Amino acid sequence: MESGIGSRRTLGSRVGAGYGAWDAKWEGCRVEGEERDLGSGMRRRIWDEDGEHQELPALIPAVPQTYIGNVVISVNPYTSLPIYTPEKVEEYRNCSFFAVKPHIYAIADDAYRSLRDRDRDQCILITGESGAGKTEASKLVMSYVAAVSSKGEEVNKVKEQLLQSNPVLEAFGNAKTVRNDNSSRFGKYMDIEFDFKGEPLGGVISNYLLEKSRIVRHVKGERNFHIFYQLLAGASPQLLQQLKLRQDCGHYGYLNREGSNLPGMDDAANFHAMQDAMRVIGFSPAEVTELLQVTAVVLKLGNVQLSSSFQASGMEACSITEPRELREICELIGLEPGTLERALCSRTVKARDETVLTTLTVPQGYYGRDALAKNIYSRLFNWLVNRINASIQVKSDKQRKVMGVLDIYGFEIFQDNSFEQFIINYCNEKLQQIFILMTLKEEQEEYVREGIQWTPVEFFDNSIICNLIENSTTGILAMLDEECLRPGVVNEDTFLTKLNQLLATHKHYESKETQNARRVTDASLPPRCFRIHHYAGKVTYNVTGFIEKNNDLLFRDLSQAMWAARHALLRSLFPEGDPQKVSLKLPPTAGSQFKSSVAMLMRNLYSKNPNYIRCIKPNDAKSAMVFTPELVLAQVRYLGLLENVRVRRAGYAFRQPYGPFLQRYKMLNARTWPRWHGGDRQGTEVLLAGLAFPAEELAFGHTKIFIRSPRTLFDLERRRQERVAQLATLIQKMFRGWRCRTQYQLMRKSQILISAWFRGHRQKNRYKQMKRSVLILQAYARGWKARRTYRKYFRSNASTCLANFIYRRLVQRYLVGLAKNLPPLSVTDRTWPPAPYRFLSDANQELKNIFYHWKCKKYRDQLPAARRAQLQARLCASELFKDKKTLYPKSLQQPFRGEYLGLKQNPKYQKLHAVAKDKLVMADTVRKVNRANGKTVPRLLLLTTEHLVLADPKAAQPKTVLSLSDIRGVSVTRFSDGFLALHLKEVSTVGAKGDFLLVSDHLIELVTRLHQTLEATTGQALPLHITDRFSTRFPKGDVSITVVESPKAGINGPVCKKKGSNKMEVLVH
Ligand SMILES: Nc1ncnc2c1ncn2[C@@H]1O[C@H](COP(=O)(O)OP(=O)(O)O)[C@@H](O)[C@H]1O
Ligand SMILES: [Mg+2]
Repeated sequence: MESGIGSRRTLGSRVGAGYGAWDAKWEGCRVEGEERDLGSGMRRRIWDEDGEHQELPALIPAVPQTYIGNVVISVNPYTSLPIYTPEKVEEYRNCSFFAVKPHIYAIADDAYRSLRDRDRDQCILITGESGAGKTEASKLVMSYVAAVSSKGEEVNKVKEQLLQSNPVLEAFGNAKTVRNDNSSRFGKYMDIEFDFKGEPLGGVISNYLLEKSRIVRHVKGERNFHIFYQLLAGASPQLLQQLKLRQDCGHYGYLNREGSNLPGMDDAANFHAMQDAMRVIGFSPAEVTELLQVTAVVLKLGNVQLSSSFQASGMEACSITEPRELREICELIGLEPGTLERALCSRTVKARDETVLTTLTVPQGYYGRDALAKNIYSRLFNWLVNRINASIQVKSDKQRKVMGVLDIYGFEIFQDNSFEQFIINYCNEKLQQIFILMTLKEEQEEYVREGIQWTPVEFFDNSIICNLIENSTTGILAMLDEECLRPGVVNEDTFLTKLNQLLATHKHYESKETQNARRVTDASLPPRCFRIHHYAGKVTYNVTGFIEKNNDLLFRDLSQAMWAARHALLRSLFPEGDPQKVSLKLPPTAGSQFKSSVAMLMRNLYSKNPNYIRCIKPNDAKSAMVFTPELVLAQVRYLGLLENVRVRRAGYAFRQPYGPFLQRYKMLNARTWPRWHGGDRQGTEVLLAGLAFPAEELAFGHTKIFIRSPRTLFDLERRRQERVAQLATLIQKMFRGWRCRTQYQLMRKSQILISAWFRGHRQKNRYKQMKRSVLILQAYARGWKARRTYRKYFRSNASTCLANFIYRRLVQRYLVGLAKNLPPLSVTDRTWPPAPYRFLSDANQELKNIFYHWKCKKYRDQLPAARRAQLQARLCASELFKDKKTLYPKSLQQPFRGEYLGLKQNPKYQKLHAVAKDKLVMADTVRKVNRANGKTVPRLLLLTTEHLVLADPKAAQPKTVLSLSDIRGVSVTRFSDGFLALHLKEVSTVGAKGDFLLVSDHLIELVTRLHQTLEATTGQALPLHITDRFSTRFPKGDVSITVVESPKAGINGPVCKKKGSNKMEVLVH
């Protein structure tokens, strides 16, 4: 690029002792970081005025950032560096600005904290020429702020929307230029708005002058806006078909009919990223489709071809060569093809109340077409920005703080510079002016104003250039507007002539004509051009196109045609096309529009605390690790960095009015804390005197305190932080103490209350108890006294008498009641009324028993003798056998008949009858077991009161007569059989015969009667054994009998089996 700093005044040469952070660093524009000397050949003298030499260290830094004061100088590394990681974000978060290495994050952090903690709106001005890294820096600032501000679902959504506005705006507003593959072709200023806690709430984006001429024309090696390439590369076949596009870039006139693969840029991926970003921001799918449709229309307009035809009148006219593209456009936007064709090929002219339709020539037709494409695109871009703003704007009306980030196109000098470059460079002049004003002029003026001793540092003030361009009467823009509005022949030549006349002697203006007048021969300045000596270099502008671009006119027929389209978005872009709203007033020119928006921007920036990032481009080849000293030197010079360094070095790092300063640091001195009662200045002096800083570090102005080195400021800040921590601890301590004390007092009060109540309660209880006891004692005592006094009057034993009387009365009532209420006489009824009083319960029980016995006796007495005997026999049987022998329950059904033989009736038994006489107890048939073989033989058995007789049934003759006293005992089995063993006493008369084994069908009755009879005669009970194993004495010796339960025994009674000589087995069932 061409370099040179026009009529710059010599900078003052006073180089004071370097201060603070700068001492150890390069005294000019130090490019810091891990420095690597590339050899002396790379060092260049950049400063040789007034005999002072300073060197620009041609160093390629690892961290290509440094500071001048708090201005960050950032050199584009053209390669990705590991210094933008989340760890770095943490490192810089809440850092102390000068205590860490220079970094964009540091300034972002400083600005963010000032905004949050000091409540000052901030702006971050990022300047530098095209390709110097402004846009990247602005993105770094935004991402840093997003990373350090708090997290929450709503906040994250806002942050995401703010960040995602970048890919969308870059797709539509960036393009490849020769200087930068991703050059922003519009200026962007973004206000990020925060709440009082520093949480982002939303933002507003302002855009400035999109370079719309790029839509229809771009030089070789550059590209149109990214979106066209992204759309063609990234859209699906269906989308392309829907938009009636072909994937091939070479098909489109506006893309210069050439393919476009940029190394390191993936258009398709970027397209998808852009679509995702739109979704995040909140674009509806319908909006995205409409947006892409309008984009496609712009692209397709470039392919509408016109050709000349001749009308009947012989006039040349233009017509559409190939109507297909036009038809497709009309299908996309919902318009009658005829309407668009008419609007493209002809024009309605109003002449004295008459409207005439004139045909256009082919160049006019192409002009109209291109103007339409440019207008559609630039309006679409404005719509896009507004749409994004609608999503990210702050919805609540909380109080906000603002951080503005300005990323505007850099200074541009091309081979051929036109209206756009003129406007862009004008904007850069304005920004430079702010920079100068804020960092150089204002600072120096402030020292003088404050009465600080100061040797002025001279610098180049570019107000003269700004004035040359924007002055409202003699400025170039004003003259251009005048030419545009002036009736009569208007072209660029008349405009240039006018400039030459008015600015002939201006130091920053040059043209062929003014050079001629000064007799300068300069072949580099062609005719139809003028040259401005900008702060950043001389730029030669070609006036061709200035008037047309400034007018920015679109034939009304075209805007009306667009308004007539059914496509809602496109239609909304052309409100002036509404025939109802035809206005004859000319719209403001592009130049004046830009001027006023720049003026507004400047006002906005002035109202905020500025932070600067000045970007430097290290080489023209966009390559990493290449450092072109001349190029950098030129930038360092025109950016005014050297003057900046000088002012910073000679001046003070920090200043603040006494009031806020005292307020902020008063806690550092016991005399000023917590309240200072004197003036602010005195307070500050007292405060600083206590801190013992070297005298040269401080200067006391009229209204402000000045601190020379950042180190001192850090020291102050550090002490303040420590003190604040101490104070916070103190407050915490006091608060905790107070809380504990109040808590304790509350507890104590409660405890006293509780114990008072408790004691009261206890005393009351005790008192009641005592009172009760006293009353009892009193009652006893009084009773005793009364009884003693009255005893003589009482009849003795009256109480016993009364008690007996009552007792008797009760007994009497009980007995009478009982007599009236006796239970039934049935013996089975054992009911008895309960005793009415406890003292009667024993008597009652006794009476119950007596009554029961009496009842039984009465029952028994009325029984006939036979029945009574029978019952006695039954009772006896039950005593003998119940629960002992299984036969017993069966016997209950059988009545005890006693006489089963019919001795009286049967004459055959007369003899036996005689034997029994009146003493017969029982007569029955039994079976006698043969003791030798176990077989049985029937026998008649007679039991009399004296004898037991066994007789042969046939002869009816007694065979064996046993005296009852001979019977030793009887053994029976446990089972339901009729087997019994009759044991005889050895000494008896018949004892020699041995024991008898009998089987009786009435065993229970037989044994019972035997027992009864024996008891009645001998007074002794019959020894009865109910057992499974017993031994019998037989004449031939003792035999042991074992009873075995077996089904083999059958129903006819037990089967006896002899087992050997002294064993017998009885099978029963
Ligand atoms: N900090 C950086 N780290 C790595 N590359 C960078 C950095 N800044 C800029 N670049 C490179 O330089 C190019 C131009 O940067 P950009 O910010 O678009 O310039 P400007 O906006 O100033 O015209 C980027 O596309 C990128 O390749
Ligand atoms: Mg940019």
